[in-house]
Amino acid sequence: MATDRGGIPPTTIQQIRDTIDIVDVVSRYVTLSKIGQNYRGLCPFHNEKSPSFTVNTTRQMFYCFGCGTGGDVFSFLMSRERFGFVEAVTELAQQASIEIPQSSFQRSPSFSSDQRKFLEQLHALANTRFQKNLHDSAQGQPALTYLQERGLTMDTLKEFGVGLALSSWDDLTHHLLHNGAKAEDLVQSGLVVAKEGRDPQSTKRDGHYDRFRSRVMVPIMDLRGNVIAFGGRILEDGTPKYLNSPETPIFNKGRCLFGLDRARDAASQLNTLLVVEGYFDVMVLHQFGIHHAVAPLGTALTADHVALLRRFVKNVVLMFDGDAAGLKATLRTLDIFVNSGVTVKVVRLPSGEDPDSFVRANGAEQLLALQEQAHSLVEFAVEQCLEGATQASIEERTRRVDEVLRILAKVSHPIEKEEYYKQVAERLGIRQSLLMQRSPVLLAQDASRVSHQRGKINPPPTWPQTRKGCREERDLVMMLVQGMLEPKHLVALREEHFMDPQYRSLVETSRLYIGEDGQLDLETFMAAVGGDSDHASLVAQLAVSDQHFDDCHDYIKGCLSALERRRVKASLDGLITRLRVAEREQQMAEIDAINAEIESLREHKAGLTA
Ligand code: UTP
Ligand code: MN
Repeated sequence: MATDRGGIPPTTIQQIRDTIDIVDVVSRYVTLSKIGQNYRGLCPFHNEKSPSFTVNTTRQMFYCFGCGTGGDVFSFLMSRERFGFVEAVTELAQQASIEIPQSSFQRSPSFSSDQRKFLEQLHALANTRFQKNLHDSAQGQPALTYLQERGLTMDTLKEFGVGLALSSWDDLTHHLLHNGAKAEDLVQSGLVVAKEGRDPQSTKRDGHYDRFRSRVMVPIMDLRGNVIAFGGRILEDGTPKYLNSPETPIFNKGRCLFGLDRARDAASQLNTLLVVEGYFDVMVLHQFGIHHAVAPLGTALTADHVALLRRFVKNVVLMFDGDAAGLKATLRTLDIFVNSGVTVKVVRLPSGEDPDSFVRANGAEQLLALQEQAHSLVEFAVEQCLEGATQASIEERTRRVDEVLRILAKVSHPIEKEEYYKQVAERLGIRQSLLMQRSPVLLAQDASRVSHQRGKINPPPTWPQTRKGCREERDLVMMLVQGMLEPKHLVALREEHFMDPQYRSLVETSRLYIGEDGQLDLETFMAAVGGDSDHASLVAQLAVSDQHFDDCHDYIKGCLSALERRRVKASLDGLITRLRVAEREQQMAEIDAINAEIESLREHKAGLTA
């Protein structure tokens, strides 16, 4: 996955790279001392006592041998300051006094930055209007009373920018038009709706009216604190309880978390985010000093949410209301967290409670205690499956056991998995060995059902993990990244030599940067792979390792021929298998052709230096 460069020209990025020294930038956060070619210090990304965080000036890369975080100067700032790429570039551009061409912030051709600004301005205007309605109008009084009865203080309301949409059909539309916007342009903000057909009750203003009427308005902000949407709650009872902004060019529900702009600092400090269900939960928790709370916008968490969370924390606690509504969604979220690098725990409040009511009745300490007691997502899912299972019928128990085994199949850590098997076996009074026998049978059944349904065959097995295993692969790619390979080596380097998919892909990518003179354009190549999320950590690791070779040329030649021998051997094995088949079927022409191929490969192999 290539990083979104936000349309900033590569030349500008390169100019910044050339001007800024990664050692200067890192030194602001880490005390570095020089050891050999590298600088070393205590890693700012994990806790350690002896320094394994390494910065290399020549290659302008960092890598931590303890936690595996690595990359270039931009990725450093992105990890350290939790910046997006564009933010990191902007920050460094400022430090280097380099100007970024303004037009470069265009995100997509259909939506210019001006339009984006325009929509943000409309939302800012609306937000001010709604707050004014709440605090300084006659209609505001009952709304304020309602909010205060719910326990929200004036400070909290102001901090979150809570407002009120009047009962009028055109209070906001009028206000926005008055500020110079055109009616047609207002519709794309989602704040204003174009009338379909004729409705005598609606506005006189060319058939446009306010989407939100008679609702408490909760502004939804992006990470920079700009209002990008609203959630409107009906006063007292009624349906729908909440009306949310529709998706717009600046608002995507599945990528947004309410309160994250306010929660980010506290969350980073605690390395934990508390995900609750509702807007009011978040606001009330903040009021009670629990600042690391956020909420999705009435939807289940998406993979995009997880990617967003991961920028800030390693731990997520999902806190669900006491009623069962959110539970199904929780169990569905299991998948998006698997192998995401985020540790997820789940806690369910006592029946009838949500975080808002719970914290008001029991205080912050009790709520945080619940957070501490949260179970892992897998434990939670297993628990849900097994609830009441001991009393269930045999068929029901079998069904539940299968359900649990499907969940456990997603646990990748063998020891953890074994532990779960043990727990489940004990809970159900079944032998653990029985569970372990059942699991592969069940998964095979599921897989064949799925492939049958889709009419597809199973995917081929992935390449074996050989990164640690094959020294030659590693060292060649390391020398590639460090610019030690000459044109004759680069020509001899072939994708087929590499079993490790990441090495293979790096070699493949390097092809794009080999010029007509056969030389690798190292700078551009490194700029491309060093900031690319798929490769950055590995590239950084290779770039900072300062291994010494007595005879570099000789060693490269040795590695290349070892890999070539392995490739030839694999080809020969394949040919011999084909030959057996051809012989059995007596396909004479085929036999001759294969024999010729084998012969020429054997000659080639004999010519390779051992
Ligand atoms: P809840 O029904 O739990 O509401 O919905 P709440 O936030 O606790 O609100 P109060 O306390 O009753 O005032 C949780 C979240 O689900 C979304 C909203 O984001 C809400 O905060 N939701 C709920 C909707 O989007 N639409 C609805 O009609 C209801
Ligand atoms: Mn509530």
